[in-house]
Amino acid sequence: MGKESASDERASLKLLAAQRAVELVESGMTLGLGSGTTATFWIKLLGEKVRKQELKIRAIASSEDSERLGREYGIPFVNFEECKSLDLTVDGADEIAPKLALIKGGGGKLLREKIVASASKRFVIVGDESKQVERLGRFPLPVEVIPMAAPLVTNSLSELGFTPAIRMKPDGRRYITDEGNLILDCSGLLIDDPAAMAAKLDSIVGVVEHGLFLGMADLALIATPDKIIERTV
Ligand code: A5P
Repeated sequence: MGKESASDERASLKLLAAQRAVELVESGMTLGLGSGTTATFWIKLLGEKVRKQELKIRAIASSEDSERLGREYGIPFVNFEECKSLDLTVDGADEIAPKLALIKGGGGKLLREKIVASASKRFVIVGDESKQVERLGRFPLPVEVIPMAAPLVTNSLSELGFTPAIRMKPDGRRYITDEGNLILDCSGLLIDDPAAMAAKLDSIVGVVEHGLFLGMADLALIATPDKIIERTV
């Protein structure tokens, strides 16, 4: 299969997963809107229902991009002052391992994604089958860092066995997160024990958050050409 048709196929699988996730939504819910291409399908599907007045929801988004998109459809947004917990959050993932251990943050939104997921009664992952792995780490683990600490955190991550690289934008400038931080993409290490690795990353001063999402997801809707697989912990 050529490159283009493989990515078209992945996009249609992402859409199928997003469609299934729309079935979990009921009027009156307060939702967490994830980020990335799969979550974008979900937001657009929700948005169309809101526009047609088929669905009444409120939302908190995990990125400025997702909020902007939601507003275009007229989805009303709240904040954590007004609403302390969300009924359901739907988001994508870069890797989905056993026990629904995830790597997220390929789009650079991991900090807000983790905040939104942590405030959710139900956290559902949508993805195509390419996201499933036995061990996390082939996808470089994104780590959000305070800019001043980046050289120090780079050393600490190298000592753990990673090869960290500051994320750059196509224009050659550094990628800056919604919170004004940098992302170190950490490659070169398959993660045998995600919980132990998360604890090590949490202990590095200057790390704001990392893309290991452990014990957070309740359900993964994974689209294959034949069916949607529902994975629980
Ligand atoms: C955004 O920061 C990410 O966590 C995305 O959810 C993740 O990268 C999956 O993205 P896609 O849905 O675009 O594959």
